[in-house]
Amino acid sequence: MMESNRILLRPWRESDAKTLFKWASDPEVGPRAGWAPHKSVEESLEIIRTVFNDALHTWAIELKETGEAIGAMGYGPSCECDLPAREGEPLVGYWVAKPYWNRGICTEALRLMLDHIRQTTDIKSLISGHFVDNPASGRVMEKCGFVPTGETCIDANQYHGENRPIRVLRLSLSHGAISLE
Ligand SMILES: CC(C)(COP(=O)(O)OP(=O)(O)OC[C@H]1O[C@@H](n2cnc3c(N)ncnc32)[C@H](O)[C@@H]1OP(=O)(O)O)[C@@H](O)C(=O)NCCC(=O)NCCS
Repeated sequence: MMESNRILLRPWRESDAKTLFKWASDPEVGPRAGWAPHKSVEESLEIIRTVFNDALHTWAIELKETGEAIGAMGYGPSCECDLPAREGEPLVGYWVAKPYWNRGICTEALRLMLDHIRQTTDIKSLISGHFVDNPASGRVMEKCGFVPTGETCIDANQYHGENRPIRVLRLSLSHGAISLE
């Protein structure tokens, strides 16, 4: 578990299903990240049991003030889009419930995860991307040191049935050594 002033990053629990559905059924959230809004608490429970069932790489963002999960933060190999990842380079992903947007919560959560990655792994770099029409996500990455690669790729997941351009960013992790990039 990781902790900062306002939040914890902790594993998802099956008991979060109702809360997850409350936030993830919002059509403003999932489609911005390329996934469909959840349609039932059962679907949210299934996501917790499958997609979020990786305590080492996927965390609930818990707001300490309320004790409620208000978002997700994680990294891993899975990528349904054509991001130009290097061999073995993990992909970062996240979302935050809409009532909590623009309070710095996602930036705080990403910084916590990056500290954890630096301290517990030898991962050299991370890749991520955001739909061009979702600049808030790019801002979060940039605030945490990600740099635009200048590349754009197209969403192959096509949740919306259209080809949506994705702006690609990368973070080089130096682990205290000088980066050779
Ligand atoms: C993207 C998302 C995770 C950001 O979470 P958040 O907790 O609001 O992020 P933060 O408050 O830490 O930072 C948001 C930044 O974006 C900026 N921002 C918000 N709307 C913006 C816009 N339309 N254009 C440019 N910047 C914008 C904010 O001003 C803030 O930057 P600042 O601190 O320099 O002012 C959240 O909006 C979300 O969950 N969206 C839906 C899912 C999603 O997009 N996931 C990422 C997929 S790549």
